[in-house]
Amino acid sequence: MVTVWRWSRKRNHYPLIPLVFMVFIAASVLYKDLKIQSVQEQADHIHRHHQLQLTQNLEYTSPNNFDKPKSSPVVLDRFTTCNTTVKYSGHTLGWDQGYHMPESDHRRSGLEDCDVFSGKWVFDNSFYPLYNGSDCPYMSDQLACHKHGRPDLGYKYWKWQPHGCNLKRWNVIDMWEKLRGKRLMFVGDSLNRGQWISMVCLLQSVIPADKRSMSPNAHLTIFRAEDYNASVEFLWAPLLVDSNSDDPVNHRLSDRIIRPDSALRHLSKWEKADILVFNTYLWWRQGPVKLLWSSEQNGVCEELDGLGAMELAMKTWAKWVESSIDPLKKQVFFVTMSPTHLWSREWNPGSEGNCYRESSPIKQDTYWGSGSDLPTMRMVDMVLRELGLKVIVLNITQLSEYRKDGHPSIYRKFWEALSPEQLSKPESYSDCIHWCLPGVPDVWNELLFNFL
Ligand SMILES: *[C@@H]1O[C@H](CO)[C@@H](O)[C@H](O)[C@H]1NC(C)=O
Ligand SMILES: *[C@@H]1O[C@H](CO)[C@@H](O)[C@H](O)[C@H]1NC(C)=O
Ligand SMILES: *[C@@H]1O[C@H](CO)[C@@H](O)[C@H](O)[C@H]1NC(C)=O
Ligand SMILES: *[C@@H]1O[C@H](CO)[C@@H](O)[C@H](O)[C@H]1NC(C)=O
Repeated sequence: MVTVWRWSRKRNHYPLIPLVFMVFIAASVLYKDLKIQSVQEQADHIHRHHQLQLTQNLEYTSPNNFDKPKSSPVVLDRFTTCNTTVKYSGHTLGWDQGYHMPESDHRRSGLEDCDVFSGKWVFDNSFYPLYNGSDCPYMSDQLACHKHGRPDLGYKYWKWQPHGCNLKRWNVIDMWEKLRGKRLMFVGDSLNRGQWISMVCLLQSVIPADKRSMSPNAHLTIFRAEDYNASVEFLWAPLLVDSNSDDPVNHRLSDRIIRPDSALRHLSKWEKADILVFNTYLWWRQGPVKLLWSSEQNGVCEELDGLGAMELAMKTWAKWVESSIDPLKKQVFFVTMSPTHLWSREWNPGSEGNCYRESSPIKQDTYWGSGSDLPTMRMVDMVLRELGLKVIVLNITQLSEYRKDGHPSIYRKFWEALSPEQLSKPESYSDCIHWCLPGVPDVWNELLFNFL
């Protein structure tokens, strides 16, 4: 009795990560171990029913010499284990600061002299929502809050208004013209997948059903529009570099093992895209990560905290950007941390809930919650600054921080619908990490539209 996601009558599966995440985070503080156990059981159940064939061709065939290891290291998969684990040796990637002069803060904004990420939310039910969720065949049940009984619908009607200028309004035909003959690819985790689904839903309505297609859910999933010769794609790469979590369906959040020095598996897929939108964050927030360097022959892993490991991964990615990107030919975007709203006491002192029943944005200017980690932000700032004009930052953290009302909480379906018992416990079963659609990610995409 496992629920599947239907696209063009093919069976597709939604990855386990979000629920594990949510419960993991809630569990680590609230209901230690118990809930993790039940999610693990759920996961095992799912795995038994959906043994994915790992037949993907993982050979790296690019002429690019990016960090190609001398002898091919074992391909990591969810069965990979470390023979032993030692402390981090301090080994780095040789990608250092100081190549570029820091550039002005407006460098990444196509909108001269205006920081489009600083602003406020304005209620606007004349233009929003930008599409009807039930008319989008590619909508995910995990994000379709209205369909799953959310009683308050105000979350769909908010417009982002920058303080110093106006955004160009979303126009679906203009967007298709920008995409004509191109591949737009989102690369990252389930938050980035949500943004991709938003983009597909924003774009699909003007394409006749027989002129568009969606491939089955896989490492790389592709939405195509024939007449525009364009595609909008999603590549599952939650840690950016190669890891034991790269299967979009069967992956473990605990015991993450990464190759800190290699993204070959993902890179071979993403390097052909014309417009790339990357993200990574929450997968690094679950405790220490194991590093298995490409040169390591005996399965000896090093253990490093999430932030340190994320920095290594970001630098490996940055090395690729630096050596391979000509900004005149390819546009690369990086989406900053997507905030979570797990503790209502942060915006409403004295309360003990989460995002459940939140129905309006936070009004307090520059509100910042514990879901957006400042040390991570500083590290990301530093890496992106080094890359200068090669990367455009979609700095969605602050604007999304205000949107405590934007999460699905219990109004969603994940594998199976929540049971009445679960529905009666929003304190442990709310998703306060992902975002309802239509909703906040549509605005991230409007911002992307403004930079193209
Ligand atoms: C959205 O589409 C559904 C089904 O096509 C329709 O029943 C509903 O009225 C639409 N909602 C709006 C707000 O247009
Ligand atoms: C379609 O787009 C691809 C690039 O995505 C290009 O290589 C190809 O030539 C295009 N085909 C046509 C018919 O324009
Ligand atoms: C662990 O050690 C065994 C035997 O020494 C070796 O065959 C195996 O490949 C190692 N594991 C990894 C992940 O390298
Ligand atoms: C994103 O915006 C925050 C302010 O909201 C700022 O502190 C941070 O440096 C920005 N990050 C990047 C990478 O531009």
